[in-house]
Amino acid sequence: MNDPVHRGMGAIDQGAAMVAQNIAFTLNQVACTVNVDPAMRLSDLLRDQLGLTGTKIGCSAGDCGACTVLLDGHQVCSCLVAAAQAEGRGVVTIEGLAQGGRLSELQRAFLAHGAAQCGICTPGMLMAATDLLTRKSDPSESQVCDALGGVLCRCTGYRKIIEAVLAVARGELDAPQPPAGAAVGSRIAKLDGLAKVTGSERYGADAAPVGALWLRVVRSPHERATFRIGDLQSFKQRHPGLLDVLTASDVPENSFGIFPQVKDQPVLADGHVRFRGEAVIALVGEYESVMAIHEADVPIEWQPQEPILDVEGALRGARPPLHALAPDNVLIRGRVVKGNVDEALVQAPHVTQGTFTTSLVEHAYIEPEAGYAERFMDEQGRDRIRIFACTQTPYMDRDEVARILKLNQGQVHIVPSAIGGGFGGKLDIAIQPLLAVAAWKLDRPVRCVYTRPESMLSTTKRHPAKMHARFACDDQGRLTATDFLGDFNTGAYASWGNTVANRVPIHASGPYFVPNVRALTRAVYTNGPIAGAFRGFGVPQSTIVHEALLDDLAEQIGMDRLEFRLLNAIRAGQSTATGQVLRASAGLHECLLHLKPAWVEASKRAAGFNARQEGLVGPLRGPRRGAGIACMWYGIGNTVIANPSTIRVGLRESGRVLLYNGAVDIGQGSSTILPQICADALGLPVHLFDQVMGDTDLTADAGKSSASRQTFVSGNAARFAGEALRKKLLAMLGVPADAEITLDGDVLMAQGVRVHLCSLATDAEGNVATGEGYFDPPTTPLDADGQGVPYATYGFAAQFAEVEVDLELGIVKVLSVHAAHDVGRAINPTQVEGQIHGGIAQGLGMALMEEYISGKTDNLHDYLIPTAGDIPPITVHIIEDAEPLGPYGAKGVGEPALIPTAPAILNAIRHATGVRITHVPATPDRVRAAILEQSR
Ligand code: FES
Ligand code: FES
Repeated sequence: MNDPVHRGMGAIDQGAAMVAQNIAFTLNQVACTVNVDPAMRLSDLLRDQLGLTGTKIGCSAGDCGACTVLLDGHQVCSCLVAAAQAEGRGVVTIEGLAQGGRLSELQRAFLAHGAAQCGICTPGMLMAATDLLTRKSDPSESQVCDALGGVLCRCTGYRKIIEAVLAVARGELDAPQPPAGAAVGSRIAKLDGLAKVTGSERYGADAAPVGALWLRVVRSPHERATFRIGDLQSFKQRHPGLLDVLTASDVPENSFGIFPQVKDQPVLADGHVRFRGEAVIALVGEYESVMAIHEADVPIEWQPQEPILDVEGALRGARPPLHALAPDNVLIRGRVVKGNVDEALVQAPHVTQGTFTTSLVEHAYIEPEAGYAERFMDEQGRDRIRIFACTQTPYMDRDEVARILKLNQGQVHIVPSAIGGGFGGKLDIAIQPLLAVAAWKLDRPVRCVYTRPESMLSTTKRHPAKMHARFACDDQGRLTATDFLGDFNTGAYASWGNTVANRVPIHASGPYFVPNVRALTRAVYTNGPIAGAFRGFGVPQSTIVHEALLDDLAEQIGMDRLEFRLLNAIRAGQSTATGQVLRASAGLHECLLHLKPAWVEASKRAAGFNARQEGLVGPLRGPRRGAGIACMWYGIGNTVIANPSTIRVGLRESGRVLLYNGAVDIGQGSSTILPQICADALGLPVHLFDQVMGDTDLTADAGKSSASRQTFVSGNAARFAGEALRKKLLAMLGVPADAEITLDGDVLMAQGVRVHLCSLATDAEGNVATGEGYFDPPTTPLDADGQGVPYATYGFAAQFAEVEVDLELGIVKVLSVHAAHDVGRAINPTQVEGQIHGGIAQGLGMALMEEYISGKTDNLHDYLIPTAGDIPPITVHIIEDAEPLGPYGAKGVGEPALIPTAPAILNAIRHATGVRITHVPATPDRVRAAILEQSR
C-alpha cells in the first residue's frame, strides 16, 4: 500500500515545461543518477522520485527549514534548490546520518535529551546541527542558535534541541533504562523517538496507496458571498485528467461541527460562504492535471456581500445573522456568579479595572494537513472507508465522517498518521471529510496535502478576545471581588467556541481565592477565520487580564507582586469561583515559594540596570529592564462533560507487552508516559512494551489529545489496565498479590513458578492475557450560576520573565524565564520540561509577535513565530503536589505551560517602562506608541 510519494506544494516556478535530463550526484554516500526536470525542487526529487520522505515539507518557500539537507556538507533548504544544482555534488539527508545501523552521536543525543517532540522539524534540525558539528565539534550556545536559526520548531521551545547539540561534545548521549517498578519518574527516551530521529516516521504526507488520485480544494476569495456554480461538464472536458469535481450536492450530510447541537459548517459551501478560505469545490484527478488548473477557469460566479468582521458589528445586527441558530450572532454565553460582586466592589478600598484585546493566533504547526482515504471491503465483506491523516482525535473523526457519509461508525476506519504538531488545530476535521466523500464516490484512493497558505487560511485559530474586568482587594491585599466580561470572536463557524465561552468564566478570577465573582462571556459569530481550540481554550487570553490587574492592586497597596499572589493563592480547602472546594493538589503556593529567591534577584537586577541607564542616557532613551510575574490554573480535561478513556494491554506469547493505546501522541509524549505508568502498574520493565496507537480498529477510545487530559485521564486508564493484567498473571501463576513478576524471554516467573508463554492459548489478537482500564474524571454539572464541579483536578503554575525594552525602538527582548509548575507528579521529567519550554515559546510568540491577518500573513514568512534565537534560558521548577485521583499523583502540563508566559512578559514590560500594554502582540510599534503616549 505504501507508495512513499509526496508531491510538494508546487514546483519551483518553471515557466515553460522543461525536458527531463540526467542528473548525477552522490546521495548519502552512494552514486545516484536520475532523469528528471532539472527545475524540480530537490525536496520533491528526494521525496517523490527517490522515496526519501525523511526530508519534510512545511512551506515550500524557504521559511520553515523542515526540508533542510546537506549539499556538499552545508545546510540548505532543499525546497529552494533545483535538482540540477545537485549535479556532481554530495547530498546527505536524514536517512544518511546513521551508519551501519548505528545512530550518529547527535541522533542519540536528540533521543536522550528529549529534543524531538512531534518530530516534524527533527530531520531539518539534525541536518543543520550536523553541519555545525562537522565544522565545530564543541560549539557555544550562541553558535548552536545561529546554526539552527533557519529551522522552525513549534513544539520544543528549542531548549532541548540546543541542549542535545551541546551534549554531543560532553558525550551525554544515552537516556536511562529503568528496571521494573521504576519507570514512573524516570527520564526515559521517547518510545516513539527512534523513527523521528531517523526520518522513518510517517506523517500525513508520507504515505498513500499506489495510484491515489489527488484532491485540490477551490476556496472562497471572499469573506461573505453567495455564488453559483456554472457548467462543470464542459469544465471537465477542458481538463483531461480531471476525473471529478465535487460540490455540496456530492456530500450525503453536508454539515459538521464539534457539538451535537451545532453542526453549522458545511464540508463544501452550498450557495454561500462565510469566510475567506471556505471550501467550495474539490477537484479530483491526476496530480499534474488538478494542480495545473487556474482558479479563474473554475466556473464559479460570485456575488460578494458586506462581511461582518468584528464582534461589535456582529452584535449590532445591522446585517442578516450568519446562522439561523444564532439570530443575534451569539453562539453561546458563559456565566459564573458567586457571592455579591456589586456590593463587594462598592465596599472595597482598592479597585482596579482595564480593557484588554488579543489577536488571532495561528497554530503554525510545521506539518500542514495531509492524508489519504480509500474505500475497501474488509474481511467480513463490509464496505468501508479508511482514512490515514494527521489528527488529534481519531474517534471523533470516525464518528463525524460516518455521519457525513451516512455510514455506520463501524464502516469508518481511522488510522492516525504521525502528527507534526497540533496544539488544538487538528482537533477539527479538515481534509478528512473531503477525502472521504471523494474516495467513497469514486471508489478510488484519494490523497491531499494542504499548502502552507491553504492550511493557514482555512483552519482554526486562537479566539481574538475583548475583555474588560474589575478586580478589588482589601487593605491587607486580600482579593474581594472579580467582575469579568469577555467577548470571543469565534469567526464563521462554531468549532470549539462553546468550550472557550464555558471554560473562560471558570478561570477568569485566576488561581486565587476570591469570595465574589461574576464572569460573563460570549462567543460571537463573524465572517472572520474560524476560531477554535488552541492550547488553553481561551484561558491564555483571560489570564492576561487578571495578571495585569493583580499587578495594579499590588502597586496600590504597596506590596511586592509575588507576595501579593502568594497571599491570595488558592489552597486546598478553599473554594473556587464555581464553589468547588479543592481537596488536594493545589500547589500554586509552593510554585511561588520556589520562584521567590530568583524573583528577588531579578527585581534587584532590573532596578540596578535601570538606575545605571538613567544615569547614562537620561529618561526615555536606551534600554530598560523589568521583571514580571504571572500565575495560572487550568482545569484538566473537558469542562463538565464526560471525558472517558479506555486503555488495554496484552502480554504476547513472545514475552513482549503490547499497549493498545488509543491516545494520539501529538508530540506531547503520551506514547511514552502511558507505557511508563502501565509498566509500573504491571510490574514489568517499560522497555518490554510495544504499542498500537490511535487506530480505531485496534484500540479502544482514549478520547482526544487535548485539554491536557491524556496523562491524567488516559494515564489512569493505563494504570488500571496494567493492574488488571497483573492480577490475571498473578492468578495464572498462583502467587500472592505482592509477588514480583519477571520475564526472561518468553518465560514468565514469580516466586519460583515458571510458565512458558508459548505453551498458553492466545486470544484472537495473539495475547495470552489482557487487562483493560477505564477512567472518567468525576465532575458535576454547573447550575445556572455556573456553580458545581467542572473539573476533577487543576494544574497550577507561576512564571516570571525578565525583559529588556528598547525605549526608542519598542523592541522587547526576553532575557530569561523561570517557570514553576505543579504537575502532581512528573511521570517523565524530561518531557515535562519539554512541554514547559514549548509552552513558553508559544506564550512568548503570543505576547510579542504572533498576529494572524487573513489574506496577509498566510505563510511562515509574514506570520512570525519564535526562532531558536528568540528563546531565552528557561529555568524549570517542577512542583509535585500529588493529585490523589491522578495516576501516581500526576495531572497534566500541556496547556498550563503556555498560559502564564504572555502575562508575565507584559507585566515585565510594564515594570521596565511603566507602560501597560493592553493589546497583544506587543509589537515594537505598539510598545513604542504606548511609551510615547505615556510621556505626553
Ligand atoms: S519546506 Fe523548505 S523551507 Fe519550508
Ligand atoms: S518537535 Fe519541532 S515542530 Fe514538533
